[in-house]
Amino acid sequence: MAIVAKHRLWNPGCVTMDTKAALILAAGKGTRMKSDECKVLHLVAGRPMLAYVLEAVQGAGIDQITLVVGHQSNRVKEYFANSNIRYVEQQQQLGTGHAVICAKEAFDEFDGHIFILCGDTPLITESALSDFFTYHRDAGSQLTILTTIMDNPETYGRIIRDDHGDVIKIVEQRDASDPEKTVNEINTGMYLVQSKLLYKLLDRIGTDNDQGEYYLTDIVSEAVKNNINVHGYRLDDAEQMIGVNTRIELALVSEKVWDQRRQDLMLAGVTLLDPKTVYIDHKVEIGADTIVHPNVTLAGETRIGRNCVIEPGVLIKDCVIGNGVEIRLGSRLEQAAVRDYATVGPMAHLRPETEIGPKARIGNFVEVKKSTVGEGTKASHLTYLGDSEIGSNVNIGAGTITCNYDGKHKYRTIIRDKCFVGADVQLKAPIEIGEGSIIGAGSTITKDVPPRTLAVTRSKQRVYRLREDQILYKNDEDR
Ligand code: UD1
Ligand code: CA
Repeated sequence: MAIVAKHRLWNPGCVTMDTKAALILAAGKGTRMKSDECKVLHLVAGRPMLAYVLEAVQGAGIDQITLVVGHQSNRVKEYFANSNIRYVEQQQQLGTGHAVICAKEAFDEFDGHIFILCGDTPLITESALSDFFTYHRDAGSQLTILTTIMDNPETYGRIIRDDHGDVIKIVEQRDASDPEKTVNEINTGMYLVQSKLLYKLLDRIGTDNDQGEYYLTDIVSEAVKNNINVHGYRLDDAEQMIGVNTRIELALVSEKVWDQRRQDLMLAGVTLLDPKTVYIDHKVEIGADTIVHPNVTLAGETRIGRNCVIEPGVLIKDCVIGNGVEIRLGSRLEQAAVRDYATVGPMAHLRPETEIGPKARIGNFVEVKKSTVGEGTKASHLTYLGDSEIGSNVNIGAGTITCNYDGKHKYRTIIRDKCFVGADVQLKAPIEIGEGSIIGAGSTITKDVPPRTLAVTRSKQRVYRLREDQILYKNDEDR
């Protein structure tokens, strides 16, 4: 389409094509999510979907980023507090066009090209954005729309082209005629537009559509009306362009991120016995020759070393796991560190601020909270260790409990190296057991125990002879 100078709404002048900024729309509630949480904060493989968009934009070399926030804006700002982002409030969500209008002041001084993106397309990659920009620049375009072909285009705006193949408008499904509905080239919601032109076009859009909203997409027909050459840049990889509107797309994009992570890790030497059942968040790292069994969730910023075995049904979140560690069936670990060659579980619970030393063993039904457990120490069965510092080569007998809480305050238990704590011991904190001491089974220890001593508080055993009529089971059939 030729640019007819006399009708030109805006003269491109001498703006350098390399001046670029991004405007990300993230104010919507996401009504179709049916959620109290705003849409862009919903997690995709452990991170808000908006974080992916931001990462792609920054990766594409754009560091001037403006974010339009509205619904739960404080939560969004809080989450991205450390990023170098300018925020614009859209008090009432009157549509995507209105969201961009709200950001007008932020671009008053700016003369360049604005990448407009939506916060709900988390799979977009930096390379797609870079290619998009290269196209826009090389075509000398003033307005380019990123498009793709979708097999199921129902939830997207359609790209309507004329007989020459030039883009003439974008029409939403709900406003589309039957022939327009058959078009499967869609609007990805990503645009590159010259800043001054953008706001001139936006001055002219209205709300004459099924939703009565200001549609950003209407800038396309406005541009065409004013003889501005609109480009559509079509990228084949439709997956990257998926917009999340409902929990169905949320599951779809999450699965794609997980799948990518699984593939990367398998190529890096990690065995996943049943890959589809292992959920590995974006930032999780795993060393080579580690074997991950089915139904495992590895979340947050977890790092797992080499040669580990993670048995079925394990959940690990924000943990550091050394080399050669075994995490056995059904264990849950959160904000804990497990050092080389230690074993944890089955059915163990490591709670925040816990460190399990090298070669230590935490066995079945053992819960450890805010505690350090030294090298080679064993707590093999049915134990609670809370707010404690346990030295190396200590044996903690079955059923040991650190009584750390008096109903108001928490206190620490210290057990020095090479102690032996018998079965069924209660250690009433604050308390310290000196190095090399022995605590007799069944004791309730309420005072510090000096090093190399035996402490026992068991009551004396008494034995009485039973009368004949007091014997409960005389014969097998009595039981
Ligand atoms: C939009 C496009 C559609 C495109 C699709 C791509 C319009 C009218 N439609 O539709 O052509 O195919 O994206 O995924 O633009 N937002 C605001 N303020 C608002 C409204 C929305 O900030 O007042 C934000 C949302 O938070 C979201 C983004 O804009 O991140 C897109 O809004 P959404 O309602 O999801 O638009 P779609 O219906 O998907
Ligand atoms: Ca959307």
